[in-house]
Amino acid sequence: MSKIFVDACLRKETPYTPVWMMRQAGRYLPEYMEVRAQAGNFLNLCHDPEKACEVTIQPLDIVGVDAAILFSDILVIPDEMGMDLEFIKGFGPKFHDPIKTEEDLDRLIGGEEAANKLTYVYETIKLLKQKLPEDKALIGFTGAPWTLATYMIEGQGTKTYNLCKKMMYSNPEFLHKILRKVTDVVKHYMIKQIEAGADVVQIFDSWASAIEVSKYDEFSWKYMVEIADYIKEKYPEIPVIMFPKGVAAFIERDLVYGNFDVFGVDWGTPMALAKEKLGSKYVLQGNMEPCRLYSKEATTQCVEGIQSIMQGEGHIFNLGHGILPDVPVENAKHFVSECQRVSKK
Ligand code: CP3
Repeated sequence: MSKIFVDACLRKETPYTPVWMMRQAGRYLPEYMEVRAQAGNFLNLCHDPEKACEVTIQPLDIVGVDAAILFSDILVIPDEMGMDLEFIKGFGPKFHDPIKTEEDLDRLIGGEEAANKLTYVYETIKLLKQKLPEDKALIGFTGAPWTLATYMIEGQGTKTYNLCKKMMYSNPEFLHKILRKVTDVVKHYMIKQIEAGADVVQIFDSWASAIEVSKYDEFSWKYMVEIADYIKEKYPEIPVIMFPKGVAAFIERDLVYGNFDVFGVDWGTPMALAKEKLGSKYVLQGNMEPCRLYSKEATTQCVEGIQSIMQGEGHIFNLGHGILPDVPVENAKHFVSECQRVSKK
């Protein structure tokens, strides 16, 4: 049976435009909160394939999306490379031993050895393959090397990125050494997710917009393209989605290139601009501003607007970044059904 989401990624004819939401398995769902409470905390949940599988499937049953995204986190990668990760309530992720010196980096496990430690992720994917309906696709994912490196260097979320940017301008060779090590782990990680059963993979560069346009290729995009090339060489039929957040100026200047299938458009980038610059080369995914989910009216208006731009083009509906925890479930359902309604052929 064909999967509508995979077909859309490959620009094949579909009965309507498929839809999913970034961060669709999460805190806005009471059912998620219940399973997380059983697990004790978020990381335990990531480490438990049965429970991770259960929360991955919840948004399919509850809000009716067309694809499942593996429940995990981008930060399990540096965690398994040997960094000490904790998710602190009300604060977010924290690495207690951020990278400051060459020795800190050299201590970390690299390459396939690090990717081999993420067995619970592959186990979750294998379970999902047994449990997901045949027509629903499973999306695997990773963080982009740059986005992962920001957490590995800063030790936590940041508004200014001053530690990694200090490195970018005063010791770029060392930043490249970190990015190289992370890229090599991610390449193996992506292949192993695909071999476990992921139908599609997405690379999240959530903090792309922290880099000035003239430096973006050098410190982020080229590593993402290298990962996509590596996947495409081994598994050309597996769609690859790139999601660099906040890169309107990068698109505007025709700086996007690479061998991948779908470009994820963030909510700050006009869909019409993305269509003009990228629509002939890549299927576009996105891009409703996630806060529109607080109003059904604002949601419908946006979905209709996106549809009028993307009608007849390669398109997948999504938000332009993750859904927030206090969005009413009913409004998320409304978004999904409106996307399916307006695009029905
Ligand atoms: O999309 C999905 O439903 C799949 C699961 C998923 C999570 N994180 C679960 C999660 C995915 C794809 C991610 C990716 C992720 N994680 C990114 C890239 C995407 C993006 O949103 O930009 C980033 C930057 C992270 C790092 C991260 N994880 C942060 C900064 C935080 C804390 C902030 C927050 O939203 O709470 C997390 C925690 C996290 N990851 C939660 C979930 C469901 C919340 C944990 C909880 O249950 O309390």
